[in-house]
Amino acid sequence: MNDAPFNVLVNDIVRALLAHRTFRSFDPEAEIPDDEVMVIVRAGQQAPTSCTGQMYTVINISREKRAEVFNHCGKQSFVMEASHFFIICVDLHRLFAIVDRVGGTNRKWPLAALQIGIFDAGLMAQNMTIAAEAMGYGTAFCGSCGDRPEELIEVLKLPKYVVPLTGLAIGVPTEDPPTRPRLPTSMVFHKDEYREYLIEELEAGIDEMDVFLRAEGYYSKYSGKEDYGWRDHMKNKFGGKWLETVEKRRREALQRQGFL
Ligand SMILES: Cc1cc2nc3c(=O)[nH]c(=O)nc-3n(C[C@H](O)[C@H](O)[C@H](O)COP(=O)(O)O)c2cc1C
Repeated sequence: MNDAPFNVLVNDIVRALLAHRTFRSFDPEAEIPDDEVMVIVRAGQQAPTSCTGQMYTVINISREKRAEVFNHCGKQSFVMEASHFFIICVDLHRLFAIVDRVGGTNRKWPLAALQIGIFDAGLMAQNMTIAAEAMGYGTAFCGSCGDRPEELIEVLKLPKYVVPLTGLAIGVPTEDPPTRPRLPTSMVFHKDEYREYLIEELEAGIDEMDVFLRAEGYYSKYSGKEDYGWRDHMKNKFGGKWLETVEKRRREALQRQGFL
């Protein structure tokens, strides 16, 4: 795929990490047993956590409540199909309650709270993902959950200092997609100091992503976009209007929840 030295790998865990791919089609009849779900969540909890603060809460969205949440998560079909759908929240509410109990008073660090909370919650989410994949299930993050936070905050009754970060679907997959490309490791792995990019290197990276994803038919398969590749996707997602709209909604929700 690219320039990582795959031949030196001997460890099953690393091999599983390198085999990760997002699944977007699940058997809607398949149910993950409760004890396995608890193992997945417990594995999430064991992720490193800043100052042991554990600034996250995971909300398990039952099949009964799924349709309501689906409407605020980009209406992506895998949300409805997956055995389990979790909303992973950055949560400072519980930590502040604990800090109150132990006599702490200073909360004048909302931006730091957001940064370390997002990191904690992200690690938790990724540990759950790895555990679920190691147990043979497929996973899909649903970042769209953070795009309409106001609605989700209402539906999930999130108190102040709690915001939805991402959804995570886990289930029995009904598709077998390939592993997707990444930029060449040499582009993201620098030595001693930041190294600026040559245009040729950027173009080579773009091409590498574009060729692989087009060959899979990634964007036509999941979004119905024909003759569309990574080049177009980066332009539209990160260089178009979409994130500007999302930014406004996210900012308002963060203000409402006490982070800004
Ligand atoms: C925070 C986050 C949010 C994501 N949100 C979505 C989403 O809403 N819908 C979706 O289909 N994929 C989503 N993804 C999956 C990415 O699109 C996927 O990881 C990326 O295209 C690379 O593909 P791979 O995971 O198969 O390697 C998300 C991934 C992350 C990390």
